[in-house]
Amino acid sequence: MKMIDQTALPGRLTYVTYTQPEGVAEAIDTMVVRGAPALGVAAAMGVALAAVRSTTHDLSELMKELERSANLLRSTRPTAINLFWGIDRVMKVARSAKSADQARVSVATEVKMMEEEDIETNKRLGRVGADLIEDGETVLTHCNAGALATVGYGTALGVVRAAVEQGKLVKVLVPETRPALQGARLTAFELVTDGIDCTVIPDTAVGHMLSLGRVDKVIVGADRITSDGFVFNKIGTYQEAVLASRHGVPFYPAAPYSTFDLSHTHEQVTIEERSFEEVVRIRGRRIAPKGVSVANPSFDMTPPELVTAMVSDRGLIERPFEENIPQVIS
Ligand code: MRU
Repeated sequence: MKMIDQTALPGRLTYVTYTQPEGVAEAIDTMVVRGAPALGVAAAMGVALAAVRSTTHDLSELMKELERSANLLRSTRPTAINLFWGIDRVMKVARSAKSADQARVSVATEVKMMEEEDIETNKRLGRVGADLIEDGETVLTHCNAGALATVGYGTALGVVRAAVEQGKLVKVLVPETRPALQGARLTAFELVTDGIDCTVIPDTAVGHMLSLGRVDKVIVGADRITSDGFVFNKIGTYQEAVLASRHGVPFYPAAPYSTFDLSHTHEQVTIEERSFEEVVRIRGRRIAPKGVSVANPSFDMTPPELVTAMVSDRGLIERPFEENIPQVIS
């Protein structure tokens, strides 16, 4: 399994290869790979590696090995539902196999399909969202919801890409997204590479830009959207939604069907708390005194009343979300 090492961007575009599920779990944990849809496919590939590397001819032995790898991969990051969706999808395929060899082949075929589907899904979602953007508008995004966060094309950035493909001039405001700087490093890298007009801003400049009327639409990705219409995404999304509402700017999460969680409500979701090291250091350099206490919640939750509509590959989801999410997604 070969992936871009996202921790090295934008300085170096390097690829890393994994041959064992343990390596994939570590890559997820350390954010070599990140972004909800990318996590789904990566975790599924982790299970597929366990399947193809196993030498057993006994189906129940193979299933035990796959369960062990699946559990390890499940324990990496708790918030993005896609991770669990990806693992469950390949495990289901493995469970329906009649022999160990058949399980190996069908799991490998399934992940290949997931990889291809992801790009198609994002392109469909992009076309749905592009209709919301007028020529000449400025979109404020958050974190990285682009090609890097998926197999390709992106969700929020997929919407921008589709609008640009329609011939619209689109500008993107990119908050740096502390602490891991996915905006400044990854979103800016993608947009500069594609020649799409973008401006990196400090996270703290979001309110100011909105108050000056410099933002027409807010479009972000999502790690999980619960059946009651709450949107979990990178920390800082909630404050963008509050400020967008204060200034009358529409706020749209853009996500594939695999990000919708129809079996949980917002109270049941775990928000990942990451290492304090991410906060006290910037790119390895210490910025806060030793001994200071630190909180590092990696995601936040935006309530449905701050969401204008949701962009999905199955169509635009409008209010009331509690009614319309299950209708559009199931
Ligand atoms: O911690 P990360 O970088 O995995 O968080 C990613 C995000 O919050 C993205 O906005 C989300 O996964 C959507 S990606 C299409």
